[in-house]
Order: sequence, then structure tokens, then C-alpha cells
Amino acid sequence: MKRFLFAAALLCCATGSFAQKFEGLAKTPTMGWNSWNTFRSDIDEQLVKEIADQFVALGLKDAGYEYVCLDDCWMSKERDAEGNLVPDPKKFPNGMKAVADYVHSKGLKFGLYECAGTKTCAGYPGSHGHEYQDALKYAEWGVDFLKYDCCNTPQFAHGGSDRIWREWAYTTMRDALYAAGRPILFNLCEWGGSEPWLWGPAVGHSWRATGDIGAVFDPVNANDGQWHPMGIMQIVGEHDNDVLRRAAGPGHWNDLDMLEVGNGDLTLFENQTHFALWAMLCSPLIMGNDIRQMSEQTKEILTNREIIALNQDELGIQAFKYETAGDIQIWAKPLSGGDWAFLFLNYSAKETPLTFYWTGRVVTDRVFDKAVTFDEKTPYRVRDLYAGKNLGTTKTPLKVTLGKNQSLVVRLSK
Ligand code: GLA
Repeated sequence: MKRFLFAAALLCCATGSFAQKFEGLAKTPTMGWNSWNTFRSDIDEQLVKEIADQFVALGLKDAGYEYVCLDDCWMSKERDAEGNLVPDPKKFPNGMKAVADYVHSKGLKFGLYECAGTKTCAGYPGSHGHEYQDALKYAEWGVDFLKYDCCNTPQFAHGGSDRIWREWAYTTMRDALYAAGRPILFNLCEWGGSEPWLWGPAVGHSWRATGDIGAVFDPVNANDGQWHPMGIMQIVGEHDNDVLRRAAGPGHWNDLDMLEVGNGDLTLFENQTHFALWAMLCSPLIMGNDIRQMSEQTKEILTNREIIALNQDELGIQAFKYETAGDIQIWAKPLSGGDWAFLFLNYSAKETPLTFYWTGRVVTDRVFDKAVTFDEKTPYRVRDLYAGKNLGTTKTPLKVTLGKNQSLVVRLSK
């Protein structure tokens, strides 16, 4: 055991951070689409092509979305005689390279899903013991992104702490991707169990921080012994945000899971707040809806360039909760060029008025050593990013009434 740990430590130090090896990947949080939230196993070549077409036709590509990703269920149930992964021939009759080629022909990137265990969460062949072989296949097919899950991992229970084994399994795949030589964005999906924000920056470009998201705003706390997805606000509050944000930055991000914007019964306000929180918290923005038939309202939210700009800001500082005033949560995010973003959320069922005085206030980000002060002489301009209109300056207090789960997001600039 000791010898193994020593070897693993050596491997870690010798290879350095993943982002260093394939420089330029995920300098800002990843933007794209993933099949799971809407389609589950109902995926095929035609779907990928139509989604890629819509990236271009709907202006999603222009807004910054780049990766078209297949989640679980793209494989056959068995590897071939040489141990290679086989795309399901009914769903992908022309193989995966043809699918990747099509996505590339649109100027986009292509992503796949696999799992560190013996089987994926849906029961397809996992990568355990086949990491280098699978990584070579991805490189051969032209894969640009790998989401790597954590189901069916009995091997993790053989000794050591869970963290050691998870870190080892993910590091093994990282090194397999290095060895295959193709720059592949590596998204770790172990749901936050071993605190991947502590070790993830050296292993992947992003790591899921929590369990699976559902299209629900409030926490889901059923005690019925069944598995349940998590609500949007449950995901936001699951871990100490100060701990998470220390780990985030260009090349390495906390992943709050694929977006549910446009799914289920989320209201307009909830969809807006969900998207803006993911943007403020520097999470990858991976759409999880059927973009081929989304409403104008959903499209407007997903393509709001001023909100996206908060997420893609080159400073890469994740927002922090500045204050909770009654039902109103106030989140702040330092931006490049001395700008700041503030999100005011009425996390309650009743309409709530808010008057926010800027003047005389000092807002401090202790983790990243940033502060913003507000005085009469050098006010900031205040811009409402949903409405796309200027609201005056910080000389005057912000006055707004917010409905249930409604937020206001403003950008301050000099
Ligand atoms: C896990 C992941 C999900 C999805 C499914 C697929 O639950 O967390 O995001 O990939 O597996 O089976």
C-alpha cells in the first residue's frame, strides 16, 4: 500500500496540472450542451447533428456555446473482442468519428461521457482497467471533452480513504488522456463526495461539486428511501462557498451541474435566477434542454450576453455571498477592469421590496483580496443586465420590488 501511494505521489508531481499540460483549455468556464437532463438514453446521431445545427442557427455558437456533448447510454453493452468501446450501432450507425466530424464541421467541439467504475451509472461498460485504451479511442474519434463519472467503483473500497482512491482513478484517466496526446477537456463527475475542489485543479478542468440537479428550484428533501435530484438552491447552498471559490480560477472550475433552464415547471424568474447564479458562480454553462424547441423566453435567457460575460470574465473569480437581508440574498463578483457584478435574489414566496444604499458602503472579498467602496465623488454606473438598460449611478440607492425567486443582476462600471 505504502509503495503504491509513493508511486501515485510521484506520478502526481511529475505530471503537474492538467490545465498546464493542455494549455488554453477552460480558461473560462466551459459552455455547451449535454444530452442527459432532457434525453437520458434517447440519443442518436441525428439528435447530435440537429443540436449542432441549432447551435449555429439560433446564435448559441455566437453567444459562446461550443461543446456538444453526449452523456451516458451512447455505447453498446459490451466491448468488442479487442476490448474497445463500441458506439451503439443502432443509435450511431456511422460510428463516433462521423458524429465528431459533423460537429467539427460546424466549428464546434464534441464531448463524450464515461465512468471510472466497471460500469457507467446506466450500466454500460466503464473505463476501469481500460483507461489508456479508451483515451486512445477518444483521440482517434476526435473527442474534445470527457465527462468522467463515478458509479460502480467497488475497487475504491479496497483500502485507503475514498479520496485517495477517487483521486487515483481520476488521475489515471488524466494521464491516459495526456498519453493519447489530444487536448481533451476533462470534467470530473464524482458529485463532491471526496471534496474534489481540494484535488481537482491538478487533475481536471472542472469537477462536479454536488449530486445531480433536477428542474426544481427549492431543496428536495424527501425521506422515502428513493433517489431524488437536487433543487437549484440546494446545489448553491450545499458546500461552504468560500471553500469552493478558493479552488476556482482559469483552467479549473466548480461544476454545479448541467443547466435546467427551460425544463420542468421552472418559472421565468427561476430560470433567470438559475442561469445568473451559475454565471456568477463561474460554473460551466452546459445547457440541458431541448434547444430545438425552446421558447423565445428560454433562448433569451440562455443567450443573454451580458450575463454570459460575467461567467466568462477573464479574472475568473467566483461570486461570494455578501449579505442576506431578510429574504434577500446579495451576491457579489469582482470582474476584470475594476467592474463588479451584484445579484439580488428574493428567495421567498412573497413580493419583497428592496432599497440598497451604495454610498458609504465597502464590499470586501477577503478570499481574493478585493474591495469596492462607494462614495459620492466617483460613482459607478449601474446597469440592469436582464433589461439591458442603465439604472443611473451608485449615488442613488437601488430601489426594486422582487417577486418570488426573482433576482436583479447589475453590473457596476466606472
Ligand atoms: C450520474 C451523473 C449524471 C449523468 C448520469 C448518467 O448520475 O451525475 O450527470 O451523467 O450519471 O447515467
